[in-house]
Amino acid sequence: MDRLKVLFNQQQIAKKVAELGAQITRDFEGESVVLIGVLKGSTIFLADLARAIKLDATFDFIAVSSYGNSREQSGEVKLLKDVDHSMQGKNVILVEDILDTGLTLTYLKNLVLAHQPRSLKIAAFLDKVSRRKQPVHADYVGFEIPDEFVVGYGLDFAERYRNLPEICILESEPESK
Ligand code: IMP
Ligand code: MG
Repeated sequence: MDRLKVLFNQQQIAKKVAELGAQITRDFEGESVVLIGVLKGSTIFLADLARAIKLDATFDFIAVSSYGNSREQSGEVKLLKDVDHSMQGKNVILVEDILDTGLTLTYLKNLVLAHQPRSLKIAAFLDKVSRRKQPVHADYVGFEIPDEFVVGYGLDFAERYRNLPEICILESEPESK
């Protein structure tokens, strides 16, 4: 049995996304951007963020292997789906649900940089700063959070809970019953 404790409600999420969208709009005034969503966790954040960005924008998606059914990162990142279009000369914003150890975004940053974009920024809705193993920095961060496992607003545990409108801490019951 999983127990969920709300960390950020819908109103807090919406306010933060609006702020991030406004910031990106200012930073890229008069330019176009390509939002690259990291499947599947970023989809809900990307859908909201994109509508808060008042610029000429296109989407692309990339998929990498993640935790599988466990809560721990395997330490290895595997590319499951590459972007569909060349990123050469584009203003790319990588959109992630959460920045944890940094292994995924370090890998993705290098992959996108190989395309020779005009610029590359990272937008991560959540940032677990204390868990970092790779020195990767997000340019646009929604909330810094403590070392807790969270679900909802796109984030999953074994593919579940992505559709929760809030971001919740997942507290599992002890194994022994
Ligand atoms: P990193 O490579 O360790 O930075 O991990 C990033 C990926 O791990 C994210 O894209 C998420 O899919 C997943 N992840 C990290 N922390 C959590 C969490 O608390 N809940 C759900 N997924 C998480
Ligand atoms: Mg995930």
